[in-house]
Amino acid sequence: MLSFFGSGSGSAASPTSVSSSSSSSSTPDLQQTESVNETTTTPPPSSSTISSSSSSHIPPGPPKLDFEQLSQTHSEQGISGAANNLFNQVVLSNPYFAAGGGLMLLGTSLALARQGIQRASSFVYRQMLVDLEIPSKDKSYMWFLEWMSQYKQRSSRHLSVETSFVQHDNGASTTTFSLVPGPGKHLIKYKGAYMLINRERSGKLLDMTSGTPFETVTLTTLYRDRALFQDLLTEAKTMALKASEGKTVIYTSWGPEWRPFGQPKKKRMIDSVILDSGIKEGIVDDVRGFLKSGKWYFERGIPYRRGYLLYGPPGSGKTSFIQALAGELDYNICILNLSEANLTDDRLNHLMNHIPQRSLLLLEDIDAAFNQRDQTDSSGYKSGVTFSGLLNALDGVASSEETITFMTTNHPEKLDPAILRPGRIDYRMLIDNASPYQIKEMFLRFYEGESEKADEFVAKAAELGVAISTAQLQGLFVYNKNDPQAALDMIETLKTPNHVF
Ligand SMILES: Nc1ncnc2c1ncn2[C@@H]1O[C@H](COP(=O)(O)OP(=O)(O)O)[C@@H](O)[C@H]1O
Ligand SMILES: [Mg+2]
Repeated sequence: MLSFFGSGSGSAASPTSVSSSSSSSSTPDLQQTESVNETTTTPPPSSSTISSSSSSHIPPGPPKLDFEQLSQTHSEQGISGAANNLFNQVVLSNPYFAAGGGLMLLGTSLALARQGIQRASSFVYRQMLVDLEIPSKDKSYMWFLEWMSQYKQRSSRHLSVETSFVQHDNGASTTTFSLVPGPGKHLIKYKGAYMLINRERSGKLLDMTSGTPFETVTLTTLYRDRALFQDLLTEAKTMALKASEGKTVIYTSWGPEWRPFGQPKKKRMIDSVILDSGIKEGIVDDVRGFLKSGKWYFERGIPYRRGYLLYGPPGSGKTSFIQALAGELDYNICILNLSEANLTDDRLNHLMNHIPQRSLLLLEDIDAAFNQRDQTDSSGYKSGVTFSGLLNALDGVASSEETITFMTTNHPEKLDPAILRPGRIDYRMLIDNASPYQIKEMFLRFYEGESEKADEFVAKAAELGVAISTAQLQGLFVYNKNDPQAALDMIETLKTPNHVF
């Protein structure tokens, strides 16, 4: 190609000069070239024949530029005209460019068509199908899985198991399995409509509060059946609430989060806990009053929380009363034992700031935080909660909802006065060993209408001259079910607090 430009203007662009220049390397050839050049300057009669014959044996190469025409257009139409012309000559008359352009066009149109089909199908999808996404953070997520596990008309081949495992103090354990739909796709027929259910783990994302991967369940159904989502969720919710209706959910700490401990327990009737006269009523009234005064607290900018301390000897009904109170108020209960081995200040703080809705917080054995130095349990572990950690956690609870904290201890004398400050503990009450009043009430609760024997029992108990806990009384009465006389006869056993019947 260069040779075209090198050989100047005019008809030098003749095929002969191309073929000759490519072979010219020696002097004789040079002379020959010159002669050829000479011949070309005077237009030979056979010029056209040469070019036609040469094009027949030279493979179809790059197109030839007609410089005459180019320079002509340049003078006639200016630079743009020349450029246009050049483009036409280079691109359109070039078989490679032409083929490439064709392919490009084909590719573009195919891509467009594909996009079109995709758009159309997603349009159809949007018009005809509806998705409902339930993320694992949502409350209805567990309800839905539970509902699915009990729904008959489904075809799921991947199940996953959710085990509730409870290790009891005596070493025995109770385990219940519930088979819920596992990750993957499931098809169900609900009220005559098909629904595709897709349970997905969203890979790398972790729910920081529980350490479990985030999941979503997506329900897909026909657009016309979309109202069924509402029905389905309502059904799932009703089912879940029925299971815990009239019951108290007990939460215990599980790492950094609260988890229901076993199945919801039947509410304990507040009447079944017998405290000395007036104590129960006093506490219940105080809590109710507190629950009513949210506005008052917010208007004054005071944290909406109240702390209660129940102290007294073991087995006097502190824990039982708080559980019964939760049932009475229709609250759940979160129990945390401060003497628990691996509880740290951080965990305590986190847990206290993430209490499930409508729950009482029960901190058992708070004295455990005050006797750090000598507090090691049988396995040699030290409780990690420190005094200041407990105070900070109590002060730091910043919930937009009410926070009711109950604390219990058997050793009020060990408590540092700092915790008794209002705002940490606002209400204190001694729950003591059984008073004569309590002994009588307990007796009558177990042996209805036996008031004569009850008085006799109270008198005999006083003669024993020892403190008797309500837990001891319960032990004696349970052993002598339906036999008040036998209970009377065995009253001596109350002398030993840990008597085994
Ligand atoms: N005042 C009480 N009224 C009814 N039952 C009681 C009472 N005190 C203790 N009990 C029974 O004794 C057992 C232990 O009571 P608990 O509430 O755990 O005592 P505490 O927490 O004060 O150590 C429970 O089974 C409970 O039913
Ligand atoms: Mg207790």
